[in-house]
Amino acid sequence: MMKAQTSVDIHELFAQRRSPRSLDESANVSNEDVVAILEAARWAPSANNIQPWRFLVGRRGDAEFKSILDALVPFNQSWAYRAALLVAVGGESIREDGNPNPTYMYDCGLAVAQLTLESHHRGFVAHQMAGFDADKAGALFQGQRPVIIVAIGKQAAADQLEGQTYDREIATRERKALSEIVLNALPL
Ligand SMILES: Cc1cc2nc3c(=O)[nH]c(=O)nc-3n(C[C@H](O)[C@H](O)[C@H](O)COP(=O)(O)O)c2cc1C
Repeated sequence: MMKAQTSVDIHELFAQRRSPRSLDESANVSNEDVVAILEAARWAPSANNIQPWRFLVGRRGDAEFKSILDALVPFNQSWAYRAALLVAVGGESIREDGNPNPTYMYDCGLAVAQLTLESHHRGFVAHQMAGFDADKAGALFQGQRPVIIVAIGKQAAADQLEGQTYDREIATRERKALSEIVLNALPL
């Protein structure tokens, strides 16, 4: 995988991770890898250790996969059907005391970051998608709010994609400069 042009050396998981859309339709994730990916998410930090994240896991070919895929917008369906796993992430937005949990989405994001990096560490790629139908995604859960859907699989050659999707697949990853996102002077 192509490494990002980072301003200083950082862990290669961050430098090499990207969100590909070209996935290998025949690749599977072993049970051990599925559990490890979820275990990494489980150990994310959360406000008051509430752990508001909930995961619905679909494997290509099963009923859960079909219903998660069906919740995606057509553009995402056009490439994510090749994923080995689709993970729908929902969040408990209400705390046990009945008050809203203002950080539930933030906490879910942290868990998904860990799931993403564990996936890449194990030789898979994970691609997050907010492009889903809210009602269909809501129906996947047991009262939790839909937060994100993640496609996990093996990266395949870019040339099975077409047009703009192909162009985006082979483009260099770009980011704002540190000086644009750090509001005070950098130490280097
Ligand atoms: C919250 C969120 C929502 C996203 N939604 C989509 C999506 O619906 N479809 C898609 O193809 N990519 C989606 N992405 C992927 C981003 O486009 C991608 O992370 C970004 O362009 C940076 O590229 P990189 O992850 O390869 O560095 C999403 C990413 C995040 C974090």
